[in-house]
Amino acid sequence: MNKETIKQQALKLDAALKTNNKRKTTLWLNKLIATNDQLKDKRLSAQIGSQLTKIKENLDNKKICIEYTGLIITMLTYSEIAEQVEYGREFGEHYTEQSRNDMFWYTWMHDTIIRNANPKKGDTIVDIGCGNAALSIKLAKKAKKVIGVDLSEEMINEGRKAISKLRIKNISFKLTPIEVVNFKKNSVDAVTTNLAIDHVKDKLAMAKKVYKWLKPGGKFVIGLAFKVEQRFKEIVERKRKRYPHLAKKTEDSFAEHVKQASGAYYEKQPIEFKVSPHELAAILQKAGFKTRIVPHYLPWFSVVVGQKITS
Ligand SMILES: C[S@@+](CC[C@H](N)C(=O)[O-])C[C@H]1O[C@@H](n2cnc3c(N)ncnc32)[C@H](O)[C@@H]1O
Repeated sequence: MNKETIKQQALKLDAALKTNNKRKTTLWLNKLIATNDQLKDKRLSAQIGSQLTKIKENLDNKKICIEYTGLIITMLTYSEIAEQVEYGREFGEHYTEQSRNDMFWYTWMHDTIIRNANPKKGDTIVDIGCGNAALSIKLAKKAKKVIGVDLSEEMINEGRKAISKLRIKNISFKLTPIEVVNFKKNSVDAVTTNLAIDHVKDKLAMAKKVYKWLKPGGKFVIGLAFKVEQRFKEIVERKRKRYPHLAKKTEDSFAEHVKQASGAYYEKQPIEFKVSPHELAAILQKAGFKTRIVPHYLPWFSVVVGQKITS
């Protein structure tokens, strides 16, 4: 039995608990117990099993049961993306090393994200997949506070080192997968993310969550590395013709980056679920955003902007 089935059943149990449906709660709880027993990963199965036992013992206390179900979903999410944590372990320092230089292709992403997020003095910004906080630091100079979210302890440690060196006080971190983090409704002025959303499998769920956190008019600004599509190639080509010196500068800096990055970085890239800018924009629209795509000078990068529409 695979983890995906268990996750689906846990979500059904969660829904049954929330709607106080006793019959469905018992049904999904029993199904989960049976499928969990067949899970190949015995360690995970034992952990989930102990949460299920607690739910069974506390069936009358809805609040406690919902908490246990939430824990199961979190556990499954963590286990699905365990590879990403490994990636952070191996590449924390290495990443900082290679992204430290002012590479034009990379700083273009940050600058374009910041310009579109347009942080103001009183703003709260969430930077998801913040890594070594390279983008968070730039945002923090313009905003009231920045919350960086990343699942890699090593990447966040790099970020902590950088902010203490720079004596920056308005950045805090949450060490957790993007998939399970949450903020209050209408509490955030902008959400940014650079080169991280590729690692999120369910981008629509992510977009819906971000939509809730944002204040009306707030923006979700995404630096994307993606699969190249023909119509985007043509858009980039037109931009390159208009600004040939910037196109050249971008190409040279990217070639330099590839040389520095070494083969290992690309061989060991974590799991990616790539989408094109147009596919991502369509996902954001489904979540309620009004969208815009900003082309890069290279056809495999872009910034996609979603704005929460005020009604
Ligand atoms: C390529 S780095 C980008 C870091 C930073 N945003 C920047 O501009 O340099 C991708 C980051 O996403 C993080 N990441 C990948 N999948 C994640 C997930 N599911 N939840 C939270 N962080 C994740 C990685 O740990 C890594 O730090």
